[in-house]
Amino acid sequence: MSMNLVVLLYLVASVCFIQALKGLSHPTTSIRGNVFGMTGMAIAVLTTAALIVELSGGKAQGMVYVLGGLVVGGGVGAYMAKKVEMTKMPELVAFMHSMIGLAAVCIAVAVVAEPWAFGIVTRGEGIPGGNRIELALGAFIGAVTFSGSVIAFGKLSGKYKFRLFQGAPVTFAGQHKLNLVLGLATAFFVFGFWHSQSWIDIVLVIALGFILGVLIIIPIGGADMPVVVSMLNSYSGWAAAGIGFSLNNPMLIIAGSLVGSSGAILSYIMCKAMNRSFISVILGGFGGEAGAAATSGVQRTAKSGSADDVAFILGNAETVVIVPGYGLAVARAQHAVKELAHKLGEKGITVKYAIHPVAGRMPGHMNVLLAEAEVPYDQVFEMEDINGEFGQADVAIVLGANDVVNPLALQKGSPIYGMPILEAYKAKTVIVNKRSMAAGYAGLDNELFYMDKTMMVFGDAKKVVEDITKAVE
Ligand code: TAP
Repeated sequence: MSMNLVVLLYLVASVCFIQALKGLSHPTTSIRGNVFGMTGMAIAVLTTAALIVELSGGKAQGMVYVLGGLVVGGGVGAYMAKKVEMTKMPELVAFMHSMIGLAAVCIAVAVVAEPWAFGIVTRGEGIPGGNRIELALGAFIGAVTFSGSVIAFGKLSGKYKFRLFQGAPVTFAGQHKLNLVLGLATAFFVFGFWHSQSWIDIVLVIALGFILGVLIIIPIGGADMPVVVSMLNSYSGWAAAGIGFSLNNPMLIIAGSLVGSSGAILSYIMCKAMNRSFISVILGGFGGEAGAAATSGVQRTAKSGSADDVAFILGNAETVVIVPGYGLAVARAQHAVKELAHKLGEKGITVKYAIHPVAGRMPGHMNVLLAEAEVPYDQVFEMEDINGEFGQADVAIVLGANDVVNPLALQKGSPIYGMPILEAYKAKTVIVNKRSMAAGYAGLDNELFYMDKTMMVFGDAKKVVEDITKAVE
């Protein structure tokens, strides 16, 4: 296999990856995007396998290990992806990022140990200076990604007692200064590795990466976790690209850069959706303030009603906007909601869905759920397109959503001040379904639940929506 053919196949795979990203940007084209992604990855893996066989002079004993890794890794990945609940997806993504980071560290260590096996030098020669820098940086970013993703995994799953895995930020005096000192120490040891290619320097670079990964993520809490996950996604891409430079592998460089830049863009989009500056998110502390504010302890009463009451209100409505949130995903109520919307449509009522960019627990969470239930795309509206319509809507039905409709975001000084929200509070009547008066992800009380025009309907979203559908004449 000539090198020209290898580069050409890598180029085809890269174009597939770009098409995959383009396709995944909208539900209607997402299946096509996935097919492009799988095709690109298959081309990249097969080309690399053929290259290994070629480089080993046709003997390819190493292929046994590669195939073993593919079968075990692919098997575990397929099993986990099939088993995972939609609400646990962010944890799975964080876990996968941690594995990419660890892979980057392992490759860097292997290259330092036997650089000739990767075709960088001939046996006995030292690694060129440029490659040493790339290796050290790739290993460092990989280590940060690994330990940071482990902390993000723990925080997202919320089921571990370990303090660093709690949603609330962990802060201490001089935290940022310590990070700065460790960052400078890392630069010093990267320089040391470039200068002498010594094991001590690269081991210290990796160890500092593991420590900094933990220190960077622990002060970030609660509502900022989505940004963290996509930021770590970006890091894992850059780690792969760094290693790609060391190995002179164009595929790793291109795929890593695509992941790195798309993750960075996604982080930026999410920060914009929450009206947060990227720097303030990375410096942490937001979720914890929110949690503290929720425990004001003031007892208030909200008006509550039944499914029959909702059916009566809907009977007099002409336009209804449905706001899905995390609770809808927990209850797996998307099919029931579609049934309700269908029944309302048959009665001549216009139904629209309003999607907040960070509703649920992962980017596009609500779009994926509604697409699964085959809700027509022309009924689904993004926040900036639907917000102007709440004022004319007869009824807003908030299903398992909380933070994304919290008017507290409009109040100066509140922990979520400035976060754009779906303006459900502007509808003539607001129906809110959740199981209790408990706070949402950011840990804040929600003024919307206590408004005169709001009626709470308590219960699991699926059961409540099915009851409403039955009650609608
Ligand atoms: P949340 O603010 O988390 O509120 C969800 C509400 O659903 C809860 O108040 C809960 O109240 C209710 N609920 C839970 N299970 C339910 C069930 N079976 N039936 C009915 N209701 C149920 O959700 P949201 O409004 O979608 O906001 C998302 C939040 O998550 C934001 O703060 C966002 O920043 C954060 N976040 C987003 C992402 C991404 S990228 N989307 C990732 C991580 C975090 P009860 O317990 O009283 O039922």
